[in-house]
Amino acid sequence: MSVHKVEVKKVTTHVLQEMKLKGEKISMLTAYDYTMAKIVDGAGIDIILVGDSASNVMAGYETTLPITLEHMIYHASSVVRGVNRSLVVVDLPFGTYQGNSKEALSSAIRIMKESGAHSVKLEGGKEIRESVERILSAGIPVMGHLGLTPQSIYKFGTYVVRAKEDEEATRLIEDAKLLEKTGCFAIVLEKIPATLAEKVAKEVSIPIIGIGAGGGVDGQVLVLHDLLGMTNEFNPRFLRRYHNLFEEITGAVKGYIVDVKSTDFPNKSEQY
Ligand code: KIV
Repeated sequence: MSVHKVEVKKVTTHVLQEMKLKGEKISMLTAYDYTMAKIVDGAGIDIILVGDSASNVMAGYETTLPITLEHMIYHASSVVRGVNRSLVVVDLPFGTYQGNSKEALSSAIRIMKESGAHSVKLEGGKEIRESVERILSAGIPVMGHLGLTPQSIYKFGTYVVRAKEDEEATRLIEDAKLLEKTGCFAIVLEKIPATLAEKVAKEVSIPIIGIGAGGGVDGQVLVLHDLLGMTNEFNPRFLRRYHNLFEEITGAVKGYIVDVKSTDFPNKSEQY
């Protein structure tokens, strides 16, 4: 008797491009570990982002700046082991690609080699063009990220909506076109006006994935812990919570404590 393994159609950068052409929306979520990645991939997500938001939600730092390349490789390799179908994108962390395209390439190569991920994401436009070009020249797919780019938080000074003024909006459109021309396979637009994001999605041919960028783009991304309601102090307007895991987990832990203290746990059937 032969066992037939069901072949899944893996999400590639070409599949994403086809989805844009067909007008089929792209779903993307973060994951940072094996167990969550397995659940998210099994549920049918198109792209899993091993975001440097791991610096906030996994490590408890205030910004994304402290996370290192080694940390990102650890998270990414854990995620890759749980994934069967989704395209895995990994953030190049702060300080591993800006202003030095050779370092950018060696950072991207380390991520690809040591984690088995499928692509990398970099924040910025024309200022990182050389780094994007060099990474692409090694055959590594690159996703761009414009708008509110959290690695530049100390330049912005605040997490408010970006590109509300004409000058910044014009620069963002130019940067999106430049990333498209350079060869990026998609771009994340974070926290910008919906009308601007829609214009970018219409004017560039590669998929535009939004977070806080309205519904006129080609897909959406959220941080998994936000969507699950684990980060209860984070309440931006763009966030839709699909669960309240903060309360669920708190309730479960409290129940366990009560059972241990009252000697209800373990009972006769829960021991050897
Ligand atoms: O690091 C991250 O999670 C991200 C998303 C917010 C797009 O870059």
